[in-house]
Amino acid sequence: MSNTTLITGANRGIGLQFVQQLLAQGDTVIACCRNPEQAAELVQLGEQFPHHLELVGLDVSQPEQLHGLKAYLGDRIIDTLINNAGLYGPKGLHFGEVDSSGFNEVMQVNVLAPLLLVQTLSDNLARNSKIAILSSMMGSISDNQSGGAYLYRASKSAVNAIGKSLANDLAPRGVAVILLHPGWVQTEMGGPNALIDTQTSVEGMLKVIAALNLDNSGEFRNYDGRELGW
Ligand SMILES: NC(=O)c1ccc[n+]([C@@H]2O[C@H](COP(=O)([O-])OP(=O)(O)OC[C@H]3O[C@@H](n4cnc5c(N)ncnc54)[C@H](OP(=O)(O)O)[C@@H]3O)[C@@H](O)[C@H]2O)c1
Repeated sequence: MSNTTLITGANRGIGLQFVQQLLAQGDTVIACCRNPEQAAELVQLGEQFPHHLELVGLDVSQPEQLHGLKAYLGDRIIDTLINNAGLYGPKGLHFGEVDSSGFNEVMQVNVLAPLLLVQTLSDNLARNSKIAILSSMMGSISDNQSGGAYLYRASKSAVNAIGKSLANDLAPRGVAVILLHPGWVQTEMGGPNALIDTQTSVEGMLKVIAALNLDNSGEFRNYDGRELGW
């Protein structure tokens, strides 16, 4: 039987590439995004892989939509849950310019949503299920040599803390968790000057996820498998 993978923010960027590669390897993919009817690439993939791709509307910042997803899934088992949806928030704000705008949304989407999604789908995770959380090197406090990016950095440090707690809490149930830095990737968020394309990033992350187990659960890893400092 094929693996079932659920991914958020599946309509573009890294999320869409995950969907493409997972379908190519034979997974059943539950692709969640805010506006499935406008997600042209996903709709096209759905026509290509009618028995393996399901599109579900999900704004991860809306708790009632998380419950809608749970109702849609019923008691189906999710083998791999990829928390990919994320946002950078207000750009180019230096020290002295930051205010509260964007803070709640960035924290809601990047930090709270992955936790609430895992809690909501807790019964859909079985022994050997895996959870991947798209963090960022920008969340590494030990690597921060350039300052700035206050909200995004804080959100990714915070989601690292959440991922580590999930790894501890879910280990007795046989569920492993990994925090991933996808690299600096050419997407809308990464911009055109980014160093790698989505294909390279996702190929690497899928290898890291394939190697994830309870012995290496709770680690923070680069897309190429290198362990990263907190
Ligand atoms: N690109 C990089 O260099 C890089 C580096 C480090 C980490 N990351 C992380 O990797 C992940 C994917 O990034 P990306 O580069 O693919 O970014 P992207 O191209 O900007 O795509 C972001 C995705 O997140 C979705 N999203 C945002 N808010 C959402 C919400 N409230 N509910 C549901 N979906 C929402 C977007 O959906 P809409 O189309 O509806 O907005 C889109 O599908 C993010 O967590 C990001 O922080 C990226």
